[in-house]
Amino acid sequence: MYQVIARKYRPQTFQDVVNQEHVKTTLENAIVQNRIAHGYIFSGQRGTGKTTVARILARCLNCIQGPTTTPCGVCASCLEITAGGTVDVIEIDAASNRGINEMRELRENVRYQPARDRYKVFIVDEAHQITSEAFNALLKTIEEPPPWVVFVLCTTEAHKIPATIASRCQHFSFRSVDFEDLMTRMAWICQQENIEADPETLAVLAQAGEGSVRDSLSALDQAIACCGSKLNAAEVRALLGAFSLESLERVTAALRDGDSRRMLEVVDELERSGHNLQHFSRELSRYFRNLLVARIGGPEAGSARLIAASSAQRQKLAEIAAGFSEEDLTRYLQLSLDLFRDLQSSLQPRFHLEIGLVRLVQAGRLLPIEQALADLKNGGTAPRPARPSGGGAPPAPPAGPAAGQPQQQLHAHLSQKGLTHLADAVENSSVTIAGSDLQVVTAKSYKLYFDDKQFAEAVRAVFGRPLRIQVTIGAGEEPAAAMPPAAIQTDDATSRALANPEVRRFREVFGGEVRRVRNLKE
Ligand SMILES: Nc1ncnc2c1ncn2[C@@H]1O[C@H](COP(=O)(O)OP(=O)(O)OP(=O)(O)O)[C@@H](O)[C@H]1O
Ligand SMILES: [Mg+2]
Ligand SMILES: [Zn+2]
Repeated sequence: MYQVIARKYRPQTFQDVVNQEHVKTTLENAIVQNRIAHGYIFSGQRGTGKTTVARILARCLNCIQGPTTTPCGVCASCLEITAGGTVDVIEIDAASNRGINEMRELRENVRYQPARDRYKVFIVDEAHQITSEAFNALLKTIEEPPPWVVFVLCTTEAHKIPATIASRCQHFSFRSVDFEDLMTRMAWICQQENIEADPETLAVLAQAGEGSVRDSLSALDQAIACCGSKLNAAEVRALLGAFSLESLERVTAALRDGDSRRMLEVVDELERSGHNLQHFSRELSRYFRNLLVARIGGPEAGSARLIAASSAQRQKLAEIAAGFSEEDLTRYLQLSLDLFRDLQSSLQPRFHLEIGLVRLVQAGRLLPIEQALADLKNGGTAPRPARPSGGGAPPAPPAGPAAGQPQQQLHAHLSQKGLTHLADAVENSSVTIAGSDLQVVTAKSYKLYFDDKQFAEAVRAVFGRPLRIQVTIGAGEEPAAAMPPAAIQTDDATSRALANPEVRRFREVFGGEVRRVRNLKE
C-alpha cells in the first residue's frame, strides 16, 4: 500500500527534524540533565513538527536504553511509538475528544503508574479545542502531576490555551520551516524515492507549502501521482496552480511602462488559459511583498529566510525591485492585498482583477507627497519621478539641468522634430506641470498651436504619459498668472499667504483653489 510521503518520512530522531533548533537543544538538555517538565506546550504553524517532536520526546523518555537523546529505534517502546502509540504513550485528538468526560477519564488514567515504560506520555493534538470545563478538569492533574506523567499539548493556536494551564507548562513555539531547509529535505526525500526533480521544481513545491513541511510533502505526493518519477517545473506549476516569476513579471513590466492596456491583456490571458484569478491575486501580493523586501534590503537582502525563493529568483527579484521606489512597492502591496480580499467574495472576479490591476498602474502615477514637498522646497515643478526605462518604456526625460523643466524638455523635443513653430510657441510661453495637468500660459496668438494634435503627441513623447493640456491666455512668463483668480476676500493675511513662494508653487503643482486664509495669531 502506498504510504504518503509525509508519514513515511516522519523524523524518528531529533537529528532528522529540520529547523526548530531551539526546541531540539532545550529538550535534549532537559533529557541529559534529567529535568523533564510535566507539561509542555508545542505551538506553531501546521506541519512544522509538533506531533513529530512530541513522539520523539516520548521515545527518548521510554526507550529501553533511555532516558536518552538518541533512542535506539528497535526496542518495543520505540517501535510501538512509531506505529502510533503504546499503553503508556497515549495520543489524544482533542478535536474529537474535547469534553469533560474524556478529561475525567484521562485524569483517572494518569493516576496509575506506567504499565511497562518509564513515563506515561500524553500527547494532546489540537489542544486548543478542549472545552473550558475539560481544561479545568485537566488543570488539577497538571498542577499536581504524579512523577511519571508528561503532558504535551500541541496546538496551532497557543492563545486559546487558558493561562492557568499555560503557566504550568514549558512553552515551545515551532517556526515555519526555512525555504532552504525545505529544499534540502525534499531533495533528499526525492533521492530516496528515485524521483527526479530539478531545483526549480523543488522550489515550486517548497513554495506551495508556505513553511509547512507537511504541505510541501503533500504537494510532492500530488506531483508524483500526476507526473510520475520525473518531475518538471512547468507541469508541477500547472498542477498546483502556481505562477512562474515570468508571468508575474508581466505585471511589473506594465507598471513600469504605465501601460493599463497590457494589464487587461494579462487578465485576458489568465482567463483564457483557465487560471484561477483568486490564486493569481494571492501570488501577486506575495510577489509584491518579496519585491518590497528585496527593495528594502538591497541586492544582498535576499536571504532565503526572508524570501522563499531560489537564489537565482532572488537575484531577479532584486533587479526588478530596484526599478521601483519603496513607496511604490508598498502601495502596490497594499493594493494587491485589497484586491485579494475583494476577489475572495467577488461574483465578478475578472472585473475585480481588471480594476485592481489598472488601479496599480494609476497608483504608480501618483507622486509621493514627500517628493512633492521636497520639490516645492527646491522650486522644482515636481514632474512624475522618472521610471528607469527598459523594454518598451517611453523615452526618459533628458538628464542634466534641463530635466524637470518641462518647457526646456518640450522645446528640445520639438526643435529636434523640426516643429519649429511649436518650439517657438513653447519658448515664448510658460509651461508647468501640475499633477496630471500641463498648464500653458501663452499669448493669444500662440493659443491655436497648443490645441494641436502635434503638441499633444510631443507631450506624450516627452513625459511618457497623457497629460491634460490646459491653455490659458496670459502674460506669458509669469506662471502664477495661470491660476484662476482667487475668489476670496483680499485681506492682508490672504495676500501675504498667496504671495508666499511655497504656496504659489503648491498651487502650481497640485492645482486647486485657496478658499480661506486664517491668521492663527488673531
Ligand atoms: N521540522 C520537520 N522536519 C522534518 N519533517 C517534518 C518537520 N515538520 C513536519 N515534518 C513532516 O510533516 C509531517 C507532519 O508533521 P507533524 O505531524 O509533526 O506536524 P504538526 O506540527 O504536528 O502539524 P499539525 O499542527 O497539523 O498537527 C511529518 O510526518 C513529517 O514528514
Ligand atoms: Mg500535529
Ligand atoms: Zn528504543
